[in-house]
Amino acid sequence: MAIENTLSIIKPDATKRNLTGLINAKFEKAGLKIIAQKRLQLSRSMAEKFYQIHKDRPFFKDLVDFMISGPVVAQVLRGDNAVFLNRTIMGATNPEEAENGTIRKEFAESIEANSVHGSDSLENARSEISFFFAYIELVN
Ligand code: CMP
Repeated sequence: MAIENTLSIIKPDATKRNLTGLINAKFEKAGLKIIAQKRLQLSRSMAEKFYQIHKDRPFFKDLVDFMISGPVVAQVLRGDNAVFLNRTIMGATNPEEAENGTIRKEFAESIEANSVHGSDSLENARSEISFFFAYIELVN
């Protein structure tokens, strides 16, 4: 397996409920290393740009409204097969479909307020990481 970097975002529903530590404990327990991290308040234009792939979806405006409703924590997770491993730990987008023990099963409030985002491919991980971080900020 290959060592990969992937982007993780802890969403406003989770930062508001003080779940950052509990969520990151799951990543670290599974062997992923947090090699960059910042807490920030997204602007509307940043959130629209980050999620532009979904701009024609009916939930786009609600998604952007939600992502700017409070602080997020953007972070880079590194490890063996990190893109897939992160998504496995997160669980299905819809918490009702998420496996027991996953972040979304335990913490998500709804399909929208689903606590975490994770890159869905290595290619998207590279562009999503560069959206938030300069190369010099990734400290392994
Ligand atoms: P995320 O992994 O951040 O990528 C896009 C987000 O859109 C997704 O998680 C969900 O939180 C949100 N979303 C809201 N409604 C839907 C929906 N019906 N289908 C898929 N994603 C949705």
